[in-house]
Amino acid sequence: MTKTRKSTVHAAITGVHGYVPPDVLTNAQLARMVDTSDEWIVERTGIKERHILKGKGLGTSHMGAEAVLGLLKKTETAPGDVELLICATTTPDMVFPSTANLICDLAGIRNIGSFDVQAACSGFVYALSIAAQFIETGKYRKIVVVGADKMSAIIDYTDRATCVLFGDGAGAVLVEPGRNHGIIDTLICSDGAGVPHLHQKAGGSRMPPTAETVAKRLHYVHQEGAAVYKYAVARMAEVATELMRRNKLTTEMVDWLVPHQANKRIIEATAERMGLSAEHVMVTIHKYGNTTAATIPLCLWEYENKLKAGDRLILAAFGGGFTWGGIYLTWAYGPR
Ligand code: ACO
Repeated sequence: MTKTRKSTVHAAITGVHGYVPPDVLTNAQLARMVDTSDEWIVERTGIKERHILKGKGLGTSHMGAEAVLGLLKKTETAPGDVELLICATTTPDMVFPSTANLICDLAGIRNIGSFDVQAACSGFVYALSIAAQFIETGKYRKIVVVGADKMSAIIDYTDRATCVLFGDGAGAVLVEPGRNHGIIDTLICSDGAGVPHLHQKAGGSRMPPTAETVAKRLHYVHQEGAAVYKYAVARMAEVATELMRRNKLTTEMVDWLVPHQANKRIIEATAERMGLSAEHVMVTIHKYGNTTAATIPLCLWEYENKLKAGDRLILAAFGGGFTWGGIYLTWAYGPR
């Protein structure tokens, strides 16, 4: 893993907002679609329900824009004050332009840089790490980072091994220079050895869409769950404990683990390796499932009112690629 170089200016999260679509898909409904059961899903994953975006012509940008509009409103930020918008997503509305461009358009944000980051479930950690660099160098003072995914667009609802896991949603944070608090350390990693275990076969330039790729159901998430699980447990714990080690954090000093929400058992194993008890771990998987790039900002949104200025948070994510990463930050504000 790369060494850390610390800046004296911290990039602080100064607001967070989330959006999940109104339609809910329960375990009981899935059990009527494929050979599964509420008991199996809850016991093996911790998921009880997930939200699904319905509506013709609505893509990931719709949810991202809803999250951004809510964020701008609650932080009293004018669209014209945003200097950069980064969107982490694996399910862009279109191959081009970027979903970040589309979100800017829907949110009335014009004439700024905007781009997407693709790092599967680690995308939000990657995007926030990039935003931190722009703040630390003094280049920008107001950046919006979005994590948004419409996983239902690439899930095969005849495949019980994947269709129970994922949901749709979006979260957005405002990042500004922090006076006393903010991002202290970031860590991003990848290993292409993970490609065979987690990918989407068709739809990209290697295998463009044809009638045959559609007939063979190649436009969906392909995941070898058990192999991915093994890596996810090891890497999530590794990144979280590495951030603790190199920032001299004892278990008692960590107020919150903010883990990617892929499987409750992976979350519990990560917390256990850190020595953390359940009340210090953010969990939303039971109600949202795995929303890929949106899980971490949705956690921050759900727990926002429990957070105090100065709380020490460790964000940790793992996903397709494989990619993984983590961020150590101190929270910049208390309940509003
Ligand atoms: N209902 C009932 N049975 C099922 C279901 C289901 N929904 N899904 C699988 N099974 C069966 C399998 O067919 C298998 O049956 P068999 O033994 O007769 O062959 C059995 O359950 C066990 O299957 P496993 O895949 O070994 O189940 P496991 O306990 O590993 O749980 C899971 C599967 C939940 C997918 C787990 O492996 C996991 O969480 N993996 C990691 C996911 C992850 O972290 N992904 C990264 C992020 S995603 C991204 O980046 C896009």
